[in-house]
Amino acid sequence: MKKINIITSSLLLLILITFSSLIKSDEKVEETESLLLEKIPIGLNGLNDTLYWGTYRPHTYFGMKTRSTKPINTGLIWSTPNIGMGSYNKFHYKVVQGGDNGIKSYTWTKHDGKNFGSQEITDVGGHLNLTTSFIKNSGSKGGDWSVRISAKSNYTNKGEVPLVSLIYYIHDESIKKSSNGLNINIADNNSNNNNNNNNIHIKGEHPEIGKYTLHFKDIKTSNSNNNNNNNCLEEMIKEEYNLINSQKDLCDWRFYGSSNYDSNKNWNVFNNIFDQDFNQHNEAVFRAWNTERFKGFIPTLPNKLKENSNVIAVQRVLTVPFNIEISFVSHEFHNKKELTEQQVDEIVKSILTGSEFDSTFSKFEKQFDDKFNKKFLGEKLKKHKSEIYKVTKESLSNLLGGFGYWYGSGITKKSEKIIKSKPVALFSATPSRPAFPRGFLWDEGFHQLLTSTFDVELTIESLSHWLNIMDENGWIPREQILGLEAASMVPEEFRLQLPNIANPPSIILVINKLLEISQAYKERTTHRKTEDDDYDGVEKLKMSMMRDLSIIIENNKEYDSIQRFLHSALPRLERFYQYYWNTQSSNLVENSFRWRGRKINHTLASGLDDYPRASQPSTSEIHIDLNSWVAFFAKSLSNLTKYLGGNVEQQEKSQMYFKQFKLIQSNIEQMHWDEKESLFHDILIHKNGSKEFLRTYGYMNYFPMLLGVLDVDSSMISPLLTTIKDVNGIWSRWGIRSMSVKDKNFGTHENYWKGPIWININYLFVHSMNKIYMNTPSIGECYQTLRFNLINNIGNVYSETGCLYEQYDPVSGNGLRNHPFSGWTSLVSLIASEQF
Ligand SMILES: *[C@@H]1O[C@H](CO)[C@@H](O)[C@H](O)[C@H]1NC(C)=O
Ligand SMILES: *[C@@H]1O[C@H](CO)[C@@H](O)[C@H](O)[C@H]1NC(C)=O
Ligand SMILES: *[C@@H]1O[C@H](CO)[C@@H](O)[C@H](O)[C@H]1NC(C)=O
Ligand SMILES: *[C@@H]1O[C@H](CO)[C@@H](O)[C@H](O)[C@H]1NC(C)=O
Ligand SMILES: *[C@@H]1O[C@H](CO)[C@@H](O)[C@H](O)[C@H]1NC(C)=O
Ligand SMILES: *[C@@H]1O[C@H](CO)[C@@H](O)[C@H](O)[C@H]1NC(C)=O
Ligand SMILES: *[C@@H]1O[C@H](CO)[C@@H](O)[C@H](O)[C@H]1NC(C)=O
Repeated sequence: MKKINIITSSLLLLILITFSSLIKSDEKVEETESLLLEKIPIGLNGLNDTLYWGTYRPHTYFGMKTRSTKPINTGLIWSTPNIGMGSYNKFHYKVVQGGDNGIKSYTWTKHDGKNFGSQEITDVGGHLNLTTSFIKNSGSKGGDWSVRISAKSNYTNKGEVPLVSLIYYIHDESIKKSSNGLNINIADNNSNNNNNNNNIHIKGEHPEIGKYTLHFKDIKTSNSNNNNNNNCLEEMIKEEYNLINSQKDLCDWRFYGSSNYDSNKNWNVFNNIFDQDFNQHNEAVFRAWNTERFKGFIPTLPNKLKENSNVIAVQRVLTVPFNIEISFVSHEFHNKKELTEQQVDEIVKSILTGSEFDSTFSKFEKQFDDKFNKKFLGEKLKKHKSEIYKVTKESLSNLLGGFGYWYGSGITKKSEKIIKSKPVALFSATPSRPAFPRGFLWDEGFHQLLTSTFDVELTIESLSHWLNIMDENGWIPREQILGLEAASMVPEEFRLQLPNIANPPSIILVINKLLEISQAYKERTTHRKTEDDDYDGVEKLKMSMMRDLSIIIENNKEYDSIQRFLHSALPRLERFYQYYWNTQSSNLVENSFRWRGRKINHTLASGLDDYPRASQPSTSEIHIDLNSWVAFFAKSLSNLTKYLGGNVEQQEKSQMYFKQFKLIQSNIEQMHWDEKESLFHDILIHKNGSKEFLRTYGYMNYFPMLLGVLDVDSSMISPLLTTIKDVNGIWSRWGIRSMSVKDKNFGTHENYWKGPIWININYLFVHSMNKIYMNTPSIGECYQTLRFNLINNIGNVYSETGCLYEQYDPVSGNGLRNHPFSGWTSLVSLIASEQF
């Protein structure tokens, strides 16, 4: 056994001290200049308009929301009150996982993050299939949009066919108690009216866009082919659907304008609709139902508009099948301060609904399909089993459909006091709609690897928001719980974010990707390399990979946006890097690092929460994953500054970062490499100067390889590879296990990162094998097998369950824990297409 003791590293130390004093003096210069860095601009190139509206409420089944500090929220609530006992008050609003509420799945089959989307909701408990589709007509003042909700059922027997009580709400958070509230115009709300127009108009005004109308198109004109053309369904419904006799109010549209200005409560749209007035209105029927419980009962909205309403909900009881179309019209977008109802009706009819909806939807759908096929190499994907194409496309759609927008304060600590931080805005993807519908720093790097392959503008917007949240020390809180609604979903003990707690800088993976696709694009558009025949073997493969990457950037405008973003992001990226040196450095060995905020069984900062580390947290630890992340960061910054540079200062910076990289790399190779086992380990440096390896077997052993910290021709790759392929170790037919079956911790206690297969780390394995270490003998075969195992298993589980999962069972391959988990598990799309 070879032990490197502190004497070797003190030699190193000497060299490093000189160097680190150099860094320190640089830092001083920066500090005297300014602590606060300029914000990265948001919404350039018209993106504030394009992205103004979106499905930015991923925790709900469906809703459109604005990217505003005081947003307009709209969304869907439904129930199938005649199916199942007591289902009258089982309203579906917030997504629930595991089908507990009868909803088996909710899947964006297509979503492009900007213009359109279509989601299938399978409400098994309600015997119902819902499709929620939307199109946007983006432009100044937010533009317009239109939503179509379609319902089908495959049940035909009496008593099994669902009735749908459908509610669509609007909540305008900009409305103040003192200003005018929302208004609803129902010309003739409760009769068999003879007007041929029974459209609903909800009118409001928002400081960012001016006057607007939320428009509900008359059901008659939306459904020509079914029995909905009777305006009053009451008598027919009661009998056919076995409703209680005293049930009334089922005719026509119903509505309720509620008003709540209590700043602690008004975010809760659901409670504000189903409030006391609602209960009062339904009390009599509810009592009657108590004596006739074998029949059905449908709670209705009270047709009441409170003064200064900031929420209006509209309800319709519908027989299945149906289509309902709801449109949003921005008046100033149509160059009028205020449109008449007639003009709004005309706009809705001529551009937003009916066959116009169909043709706009088809146009966006074709653009989406073409763009997907081009960037994810659709032809190549189609050579696999058909599930692979499907899971690749749908996981991208679900990631894009999971983007959200939040505004609010986080909770943190400053000088021992718990404080609310300054409110910030975040535009970000989310790990899981039911479980984690908010921003997570370490997940976001992986989310954006995939997003950027489809649409780099979305990535630039997301990363800009994330980097702008950084404080003057370069700290970005790892979990973003912004606003009261987000806070309501997170247990108290997880809300406090401490400024000394770091998280892996995975967003640097995306910065590297932006750099690589820029280089590939430039190469393609300037040199136009001709034939592959000039190259052979690995070189040929590299050329073809480069060519595939070069199609990700679509035009010069996108290329320019990336360059501008990289330039404006650089100071914040450097500050972010400094943060690790300033807060996570080991106190024992220069150029080594240790995660702060560790607990006995948890290192939440590392992202691998319960992965076993030293049994007691102490200052003697040095963490191999963190050393690798910082080395990776240094190397990446060296590349970035060189790439962006030109001037001497940038070139010097690039050299400085490269030197820092080399120093950490050499520490990693000398101190963490266990030659006996051919693995990397965490280490302890004891008081007497001796070093101890902390021998655990799993992901931790490979970080220097996963992050490309080892040189391409490193002699450590081959032996590492041998350990990876051990089928009695971390290798399984479903992907690489977080811990080896041989480790004594395998499958124990929480068993979160103690065996189950995680897709983000598997991505890092295939990525580094494919992109960095391809020259290593026999790595190609290992890469192909691993890739095949991953896409097959994730694809199979997806076909069976309709879901991506948070993790996969290390023994059976089954999906485990949170689902749908369309965050980093959706990296399967990149693994399948090889567009790393
Ligand atoms: C886009 O909107 C954000 C947030 O309101 C604002 O800070 C930014 O300046 C806008 N960008 C442009 C180009 O107008
Ligand atoms: C409803 O969706 C399920 C799959 O989730 C499908 O098998 C069934 O055919 C659909 N029913 C109708 C009527 O579309
Ligand atoms: C309707 O579809 C659901 C979900 O696919 C299935 O479980 C059910 O058996 C089907 N019902 C009928 C009557 O076909
Ligand atoms: C709708 O009808 C109800 C009951 O007939 C009536 O009380 C209410 O004022 C009407 N609302 C509007 C906005 O006309
Ligand atoms: C840490 O985990 C061990 C099992 O590995 C358990 O026995 C112990 O109670 C845990 N300690 C704490 C402080 O959570
Ligand atoms: C840095 O740039 C070199 C040369 O362009 C490239 O080979 C390497 O992969 C890059 N490293 C990273 C971490 O992006
Ligand atoms: C140094 O200290 C550690 C832990 O206290 C101990 O296990 C080890 O045997 C010691 N080594 C030497 C060379 O004294």
